[in-house]
Amino acid sequence: MSHDDLSFDEIDELISPRAEETDFDRVVESALSRRGFLGGVMTFGLGSFLVGTTALTRDAQAGSHGHADRFGFHQIPANSEDTITVPDGFEWEPVVTWGDPLFSSTPAFDEATRGTAASQAGAFGDNNDGMAFFTKGGRHVMAINNEYTNRKILWGNNPDGAWVSDDDVEKGMMAHGVSVVEVARNDADSWQVVIDSDLNRRITPQTDMEITGPAAGHDLMKTTADPTGTTCKGTWNNCGNGETPWGTYLACEENFNGYFSAEDEAHEVSAELKRYGVSSKDWGYGWAKVDPRFDVAKDPNEPNRAGYVVEIDPFDPTSTPKKRTALGRFKHENAAVVVATNGKVVVYMGDDERGEFLYKFVSEGTYSGVGDNSDLLESGDLYVAKFHDDMRGEWLALTPETTGMTEAEIRIHTRQAASKVGATTMDRPEWVAVNPTKAEAYVALTNNKNRGVKPNAGGDDTSANGPNPRVENHYGQIARWMADDADHTAPGFSWNLFALAGNPDVHSDAYAGSQNINAGNMFNSPDGMAFDSTGLLWIQTDGNYSNAEDFAGMGNNQMLAGDTVTGEIRRFLVGPKECEVTGVCWSPDRRTMFVGIQHPGERGDSHFPDGGTSVPRSGVFAVRRTDGGLIG
Ligand code: FEO
Ligand code: CA
Ligand code: CA
Repeated sequence: MSHDDLSFDEIDELISPRAEETDFDRVVESALSRRGFLGGVMTFGLGSFLVGTTALTRDAQAGSHGHADRFGFHQIPANSEDTITVPDGFEWEPVVTWGDPLFSSTPAFDEATRGTAASQAGAFGDNNDGMAFFTKGGRHVMAINNEYTNRKILWGNNPDGAWVSDDDVEKGMMAHGVSVVEVARNDADSWQVVIDSDLNRRITPQTDMEITGPAAGHDLMKTTADPTGTTCKGTWNNCGNGETPWGTYLACEENFNGYFSAEDEAHEVSAELKRYGVSSKDWGYGWAKVDPRFDVAKDPNEPNRAGYVVEIDPFDPTSTPKKRTALGRFKHENAAVVVATNGKVVVYMGDDERGEFLYKFVSEGTYSGVGDNSDLLESGDLYVAKFHDDMRGEWLALTPETTGMTEAEIRIHTRQAASKVGATTMDRPEWVAVNPTKAEAYVALTNNKNRGVKPNAGGDDTSANGPNPRVENHYGQIARWMADDADHTAPGFSWNLFALAGNPDVHSDAYAGSQNINAGNMFNSPDGMAFDSTGLLWIQTDGNYSNAEDFAGMGNNQMLAGDTVTGEIRRFLVGPKECEVTGVCWSPDRRTMFVGIQHPGERGDSHFPDGGTSVPRSGVFAVRRTDGGLIG
């Protein structure tokens, strides 16, 4: 099987296998923990994890078609079609898709060649993920992450779907990064890109960046090209996002490791780099062939300059994006920003790898509605979550005292720092979303097939734990925590599970899911997640779309909405074949919801959105009510 048939996660594991299970005690412990979980269900009742949802019965929820009420839409059934499906009374249309020119000097997308490095540099990037919508002075700008690229599709110009020329490699590189585009409504009231807007910008792996915060200038950040350790080039594998109250966009660097390799594949990388999955083996992108800084044997510090949250001013196309090392280095999923009651800026962040952690940043300065807030993410305290089985939790400070590492080392080797303080290993933390109506936050724990099977990344404890209660977890769950005293800077919190995804048609044990999961709304692998301004939780999935066996009845990846008070979850949208649904934002009037569709046809079976025999393309789609009403 070629790497193109594998997910990022699978390639990562193939190339950088974690320690294999050898310890007999651990095997026994895993077996016991499985029985322990089922015992726990008997003792507490699964509902005790699910505050607020116990009153709902499966039947009541399955029959939710009769009332639109809180949701404003009727649930749709799962399907496996090659299109976007939305409820009656809604419509959708494309806003921008991979390869669409942002400038009149850029040629239109070419189905035969799929472009060149030069055309891709002036066009919308591939595999869009997190995004945000900004309005200022009557103009609207969307900042949209272009996480990665499906090489078989990108290199369809070559018969075997592999790179042949340096231009192929550079085309792939230019398909990564961030697209900043001005959008406006046209005569037909459709949102479209403003071609040639002075605000349009492609940020790529070659864009100049500034390194800020505690790690800036540290020896581990210095390279041949940058002996000061304060500037670097580019951002890539930008997954989820964040946005700040002062109008900046946060692009989060996730699987940054997969782009490094060494000409000498026998080259051994350091243990510190291994923890981040960096290896000398090329995943297939070939970047080291065209840019030696991606050769980890030549520049072993270059990977230390990726894996951060990048702050971008979407209204200043000449601004230099800033890597915010104060927020730590890991496989950042998204950055959920909230201003706490005391004015400090709190950022919740997941590290998406099996058995990695959930983090919280608290700014040193406080937010002011009128002053200069532009460097609030420059300095602050970093914490990692510890969940206790008594439904309490605490934020463990990552400091020189608790870790034995310097402030800079904590920000560069954040995973190691978190292991030292004994943080709770999680089932791949994806997006965090903060409830705008209550001091609580939600994290999508997408899945973890290895929990209880073999050690997770870093070799931490792998048995089931409170918010990750199932071993061999193929379905995922959504956990939430309530900050003590309604203060997001408080060191303590209480927690419970909002939903355990599962399949009640196939299983009758813990894999059936929680009570708010039923035959009508089931899904697997929650990933993207965001609250709308009314407090409705929107959930997007990136999971198994086989619609068979354990996943029968779930159909394609999808988007659902959750009522966090009653626990009810309803399916809103089904994506096309082989896609994931990821990234969501709203127009300021909440009459348009923008939804991201990533990698339709990743395994070769989609022609979305153009149909026929066309090349499948990721894109951003506008969803509206046909009556023009509010969404959510
Ligand atoms: Fe890019 Fe964790 O998803
Ligand atoms: Ca994701
Ligand atoms: Ca994903």
